[in-house]
Amino acid sequence: MSFPIERPRRVRSNPILRNMVRETRLSKECLIYPLFACPGKGVKKEISSMPGQYQMSIDQIVEESCRVQDLGLPAVLLFGLPEHKDAKGSEGFAADGIVPRAIAAIKEKCSGLAVMADACLCEYTDHGHCGIITRTPGKGVVDNDPSLELLAAEAVAYAQAGVDLVAPSAMMDGQVQAIRSALDSQGFEHLPIMAYAAKYASCFYGPFREAAESAPQFGDRRGYQMDPANSDEALRETALDIEEGADIVMVKPAIHFLDIIYRVKHEFGMPTAAYFVSGEFAQIKAAVQRGWLDEPRTAIESHLAIRRAGADMIITYYAKELLQWL
Ligand code: PBG
Repeated sequence: MSFPIERPRRVRSNPILRNMVRETRLSKECLIYPLFACPGKGVKKEISSMPGQYQMSIDQIVEESCRVQDLGLPAVLLFGLPEHKDAKGSEGFAADGIVPRAIAAIKEKCSGLAVMADACLCEYTDHGHCGIITRTPGKGVVDNDPSLELLAAEAVAYAQAGVDLVAPSAMMDGQVQAIRSALDSQGFEHLPIMAYAAKYASCFYGPFREAAESAPQFGDRRGYQMDPANSDEALRETALDIEEGADIVMVKPAIHFLDIIYRVKHEFGMPTAAYFVSGEFAQIKAAVQRGWLDEPRTAIESHLAIRRAGADMIITYYAKELLQWL
């Protein structure tokens, strides 16, 4: 037989065949678009470190959600900026808080869109941490168990407003179980939970904290979010969340944690989400503004990598733009 027998280029040089043998695809069905709801009316304020992303009042969020639905995106993920912050993050779990009101308003106008909401306290607490602060030595900065009740109340408030899925992101131990049992006891046993299962204490959340005005006022989140050096621990965290009732598990950030996405998907075979976070988005935007990277190609390659690693769905600020480029 003549050499070489195998020529991988045969299916690569014809663009039609190349497309047919593609192993991983990016499609709109797998994209989730984050939105930031803020008080007021007619407000649409660009986030300086996230070009093209805005804090929006509810009327604007509804308009944006309708556009997103018309584009064919399946889902949005809501974050909220309260009128007032306090030590407990009271507006986070208030029935008439910013996120429940946004949920109800979007569901009324855009019934074809899945509305997901992030359950955490850092946007609502005056200290910017994701739970209640304690000074008790040995307990860490954030007191785990009292924080669970508030997170559960927040999830119930979202459920009552008509949310389609709750996404707890505070990284408190037992938060999925606390939310699951609160939802069940209130008649929301059908409502799914997407758990931020392996959420790392990452520097790539910087721009988000400007967007959500949620930077910790002292210290950092390393007492509750995961150490970026660890990967076995991500499997233990994910196993716990699945035991506690998670329906979808998430790895966050995405690009710098592709190995974690791969391991989580292959170990558990669960529906797996990855969050392409604010800093990952900002990095590309900044390089593109300088003319150093080609934006569509860079964004597509990055999101394809996340899918190839094993993510079924991607939460990404690029969702709308990707649709134009695909
Ligand atoms: C809330 C939360 C954060 C993000 C999602 N939910 C910030 C944080 O943990 O500090 C980050 C998302 C992003 O960077 O795009 N805890």
